[in-house]
Amino acid sequence: MRHFELMESLEIGNDAIDDAHREMVSIMRATKEAILSKDMGLSRKLLGELTRETIRHFKEEEDLLEKAGYEDLGEHVEFHKKLVKRIKAVKADCENFRSPEKLLGCFDEMTRFMVDDIVRGDLAFKSFLQVKGLAKR
Ligand SMILES: [Fe+2]
Ligand SMILES: [Fe+2]
Repeated sequence: MRHFELMESLEIGNDAIDDAHREMVSIMRATKEAILSKDMGLSRKLLGELTRETIRHFKEEEDLLEKAGYEDLGEHVEFHKKLVKRIKAVKADCENFRSPEKLLGCFDEMTRFMVDDIVRGDLAFKSFLQVKGLAKR
């Protein structure tokens, strides 16, 4: 669970972004629980939800950065694109597993890179949003 706590504790300071990150963590926690209770149907459903929420959040974040005139937007959009590709690939992999044990390993890998990359990637524009008055210090 270390990764979830890390993601919850590292705030950007912008409510829309932080709320979305928390929502993603909450879906990840629910997914992990569903896998541990061997509910494959619910696990798959939640993986779909996680993918959709992630894509929705990336778009929202890109719109916010664009409106604020963020210089390195193109770089961050590319970064999001790569993450979505990877998330979809891992999700497809996860869905092929029939045993909860294998699915859990796959899911843990997915959350590890999602949390690390999302948190590290977004820290790049935190101070920019602060300067623009769009993030609390
Ligand atoms: Fe991002
Ligand atoms: Fe984000």
